[in-house]
Amino acid sequence: MTSAHSDPAPVTVRVPAKVNLELLVGPLRDDGFHSLSTVYQAVNLHDDVTVALDDDWGCTVSGAGTDSVPTDDSNLAMRAARLLHDEIGLDAPVHITIAKTIPVAGGMAGGSADAAAALVACDRMWSLGLSSEELEEYAAELGSDVPFLIRGGTAVGSGRGERLAPVLARGNFHWVFAISDIGLSTPEVYAECDRLRGSAPVPEPTPSTELMSALRSGDPRALAAQLTNDLEAAAISLRPELGEVLESGMEFGALGGIVSGSGPTVAFLVEDVEAAIDLTVALTATGTAREVRKAVGPVHGAHVIPARVD
Ligand code: C5P
Repeated sequence: MTSAHSDPAPVTVRVPAKVNLELLVGPLRDDGFHSLSTVYQAVNLHDDVTVALDDDWGCTVSGAGTDSVPTDDSNLAMRAARLLHDEIGLDAPVHITIAKTIPVAGGMAGGSADAAAALVACDRMWSLGLSSEELEEYAAELGSDVPFLIRGGTAVGSGRGERLAPVLARGNFHWVFAISDIGLSTPEVYAECDRLRGSAPVPEPTPSTELMSALRSGDPRALAAQLTNDLEAAAISLRPELGEVLESGMEFGALGGIVSGSGPTVAFLVEDVEAAIDLTVALTATGTAREVRKAVGPVHGAHVIPARVD
């Protein structure tokens, strides 16, 4: 371990998961991405990402379902740290330790969140003093939703999801997430969306004004009525059991339900914390999901926390 006195101390960053309140998929672009209009909300399921100088590059990941998470250079957090490192022209390998509670491969941006956290942590460790705008530019090189995980809160994403504008959202919204082991690849879900749409021309999407006023009102019933995901039909077409999970949640009293991003996590909006506890218990009892977790949004994006002592 590199331990010269002047070495910077390790830095830990806490980063939230996201849910898409609205995900409108536009036409396929020449670069292989779809133009999007999406409304992201950050929710308090977190990963903690610690960066520390070391003799070699490396990555350690802990938490449920993390066996499938790569620890080599294909890990998005590693790519993020290397991106900043190479950009600045350093020769200082980093070890990244990721403690995951965001569902792995769940459509809640767990990998993107770790990349966002690694950028924020390296910026602090190396005292680079990058602005949020500069960090978000690096983030956009790593993935469409990485910039949002730096910013947090509630925001509209356009372009391929990486161009952000803030949204006024009043109050807190209570969520229940049904997390399953069914594998779903994001590119496959987009491709299925294209297949289901056929050859009809697809318009450029724009955020719905009804959703914006529901967010301003802070009323979960109004928001529930506006939850929209153009990828939902594609995800259910590939994994019909997701339709059953959605039905169960609604029968058990959710105000609204939606496949989260490209799935397979299903997100339910509920009235308050008591309703969240009730729905969590009811859905857990059905056994249709591997795990059921409640959360609140919006919360802050990636931010430095005191170092972990475990
Ligand atoms: O940007 P990200 O790495 O999250 O994208 C993963 C994949 O999802 C892309 O390779 C693409 O197949 C699909 N995608 C898309 N349009 C977007 C975002 C993602 O087609 N706006």
